[in-house]
Amino acid sequence: WSANVSKIDGVLTIAGEPATDLAQEFGTPLYVVDEDDFRARARGFREAFPDADVYYAGKAFLCVATARWIAEEGLNLDVCTGGELAVALRAGFPPARIGHHGNNKSVAELRRALEVGVGRIVIDSFEEIDRLAALSAELDVRAPVMVRVTAGVEAHTHEYISTSHEDQKFGFSISDGAALEAVRRVLAADGLEFLGLHSHIGSQIFVTDGFEVAARRVLRLHEQIARELGVTAPELDLGGGFGIAYTTQDDPRPAEDLGREIVKIVTDECAALKIDVPQLSIEPGRAIAGPSTFTLYEVGTTKAVGLDGGGSRMYVSVDGGMSDNIRPALYGADYSCTLASRESEARPVLARVVGKHCESGDIVVKSEFLPSDIAAGDLLAVPGTGAYCRSLASNYNHVPRAAVVAVRDGEARLILRRETEDDLLALDVE
Ligand code: LLP
Repeated sequence: WSANVSKIDGVLTIAGEPATDLAQEFGTPLYVVDEDDFRARARGFREAFPDADVYYAGKAFLCVATARWIAEEGLNLDVCTGGELAVALRAGFPPARIGHHGNNKSVAELRRALEVGVGRIVIDSFEEIDRLAALSAELDVRAPVMVRVTAGVEAHTHEYISTSHEDQKFGFSISDGAALEAVRRVLAADGLEFLGLHSHIGSQIFVTDGFEVAARRVLRLHEQIARELGVTAPELDLGGGFGIAYTTQDDPRPAEDLGREIVKIVTDECAALKIDVPQLSIEPGRAIAGPSTFTLYEVGTTKAVGLDGGGSRMYVSVDGGMSDNIRPALYGADYSCTLASRESEARPVLARVVGKHCESGDIVVKSEFLPSDIAAGDLLAVPGTGAYCRSLASNYNHVPRAAVVAVRDGEARLILRRETEDDLLALDVE
């Protein structure tokens, strides 16, 4: 749960706002963001990495409001598509503080990034070097670039969110020489300004050993570039990936500890290589947005289902599901939940919270003990849904995407409105 959440007489309350009032005013399912918590985590990263540039990874959750919070808290912003860039620009985010990622940016996306003057473009393929060189000549601008490299480490996380082993689509491999060759071509290209190397090893990571191996390999390449190509890159980005707690099983390290440890790894390695420490940057997304938010659902039907081997499980259906949180279906992610609308003295029973979609994998919370008297009209709240839930939301089964409300000092403000059936029907061409 985020910092300002507590239960008062059984009703979940966030920054002074009862969940029951929020559900009544804004409907369910509803993403409820604790704005102070989001901002505090953003500031926390700046304080934990005082000499580094912190880029919030917008893919975790980006809308005009969150882009403004990030700007106001003094962070930079990482976008990876033209759509994310459009949101940032609508929010008035200073382009010079935006980094543009993407393994397959279109020419139009690259052109726009150069036209608006983003601070850096992270190059992910040889074609992109040629495209950027051509565009910078056409537009008569210099393109500030980083080169994304693959350090060849296993990040100890789900395969779909690991990005630094060799057999995946991102970056230039260090081990087969592609990374060095990419830097050579960047340096030889007119119009490209080489800022440094970028490495992101994966997401929802709890241990620093992967970072450590990656940082060492990337710094060795950084030193090799200086020695063989005669250019000392001013910057180095170590990506994001800091894990958060989804259930009591997860035990993430505080940002300050990670900051101290990662900066020490880099400083020691630079000392060993006898090179100056480059300007560091990091890109946390989940660790800023994730814990700030819970999703509020209304319970509909309930059903007791017998289990092989005895006993039973109560299936509690809510009014959302895999369309507002695909993470259980996609990554086998675990969540927890609590009854948010009232006190209950009823005995706890084994329950599974499921959505309203037409798939048996449409699970919100795989396993949780809930009061046996849970019934239609009750509200359930699922914490830790601020990252990669709204941003991965879909309209599966023509379910309109849920609204997002920000709560601060007892006031609730809609920051993304709920989609309507009319929004969906407006796409049909008759
Ligand atoms: N930088 C780069 C280049 C990235 O690709 C990512 C995440 C980040 C930073 C931020 O990582 P974070 O600090 O949020 O872990 N949908 C998946 C996560 C996908 C992560 C994609 N890239 C999930 O829900 O777990």
